[in-house]
Amino acid sequence: MAYRFAARMGKTPRSFIREILRVTKDRSIISFAGGLPNPALFPVDAIKEAAIDVLTEKPTEALQYSTTEGYLPLREWISERYQKRAGLSIPPENILITNGSQQSLDLIGKICIDKKSPVAIEKPGYLGAIQAFSLYEPQFHPVGLELDGPDIACLEEIVRRYSPQIFYGVPNFQNPSGITYSDEKRREVGEMLSGTDTLFIEDDAYGELRFRGDDLPLVHQFLPENGIILGSFSKIIAPGMRMGWIAAPQEIYEKLITAKQASDLHSNYLSQLIIHQFLASHDIESHLRLIRDSYRRQRDCMVKAMEEFFPQEVTFTRPDGGMFLWATLPDGISSIDLFELAIRKKVAFVPGNPFYTDGGGSSSLRLNYSNADPDSIIEGIRRLGEAMKSLIG
Ligand SMILES: Cc1ncc(COP(=O)(O)O)c(C=O)c1O
Repeated sequence: MAYRFAARMGKTPRSFIREILRVTKDRSIISFAGGLPNPALFPVDAIKEAAIDVLTEKPTEALQYSTTEGYLPLREWISERYQKRAGLSIPPENILITNGSQQSLDLIGKICIDKKSPVAIEKPGYLGAIQAFSLYEPQFHPVGLELDGPDIACLEEIVRRYSPQIFYGVPNFQNPSGITYSDEKRREVGEMLSGTDTLFIEDDAYGELRFRGDDLPLVHQFLPENGIILGSFSKIIAPGMRMGWIAAPQEIYEKLITAKQASDLHSNYLSQLIIHQFLASHDIESHLRLIRDSYRRQRDCMVKAMEEFFPQEVTFTRPDGGMFLWATLPDGISSIDLFELAIRKKVAFVPGNPFYTDGGGSSSLRLNYSNADPDSIIEGIRRLGEAMKSLIG
């Protein structure tokens, strides 16, 4: 039979990373391709204890249906964390618990994007957001990223000409580039968008993972009325729990509740209770210190190896947090060609092209350092350097 699908399915890219991850299932390949947190840092024993506590103390509540908004004590914890971390006052009533930020992106798409709606997005941009929004068939307007954040003139022009429904960005240690908006750019983005009808979707998946320098204010501070923040427990506890949140102004919050009810009624309640129990009974600061210290060492190891083994003409970012860095080959050298050569040398990365909504990125690549040990990082970067040299000549 001829299966018939909605037209939108033809316009949504399959996750290129999933395709690459299939190639890298081969255990002999050193992979910098995935975006996995370091599993050695998952708080396994503490989560086990928290799960036993929850299932002992409130077994039937934990296994019953619950409210769409999410477990109130968990939303209160998130609210207090914004106050402590950023001096932001975001009441629990404005926080919606989701099954991870990826669901948050889908819900934003559902309530904000019609077919051909203008959507501004960073270039390069987070692949999962490109995929989630694509299902709603927007017109993407890419905003170039500079080393200190978005190209403000480009954003201004897009806002003036197209009045996009949303501008989606990752101001802290962006996936894929590792770039962080400077203080100045945060203010400029905020000031430019406030008073317009464009929402800023501030995806802060990596904000707690700064391992160098001082925290900068959330962009939200400069545009509270049209700012939405996305947060996630994936990178600070464990992604398998599938737990994140959206902080949104009231009117938007109501729409998100309707969209979420239609999607899944509510987020995994057992996970919510376990995470809350873990947070209430453990020192999150010392857990975060462990993650940051490890990622600093892994990042430093990768940067040092790149300085040693990559050809001089190859440039790359030096992130102050997060899990990724971004390398750029000389003009005319293709990262897809490099990928094929690298796979033969048993090392993998993600070529830049899928992170672009306008077909660019052909000479760039994303490298993940959080999920490889120092010896593998050095050996993998050495092999990649060899592959680059044979391509560049
Ligand atoms: C920028 C960004 N947003 C959202 C997500 C999705 O995270 P979650 O596990 O919370 O769904 C990721 C995952 O890698 C990410 O890098």
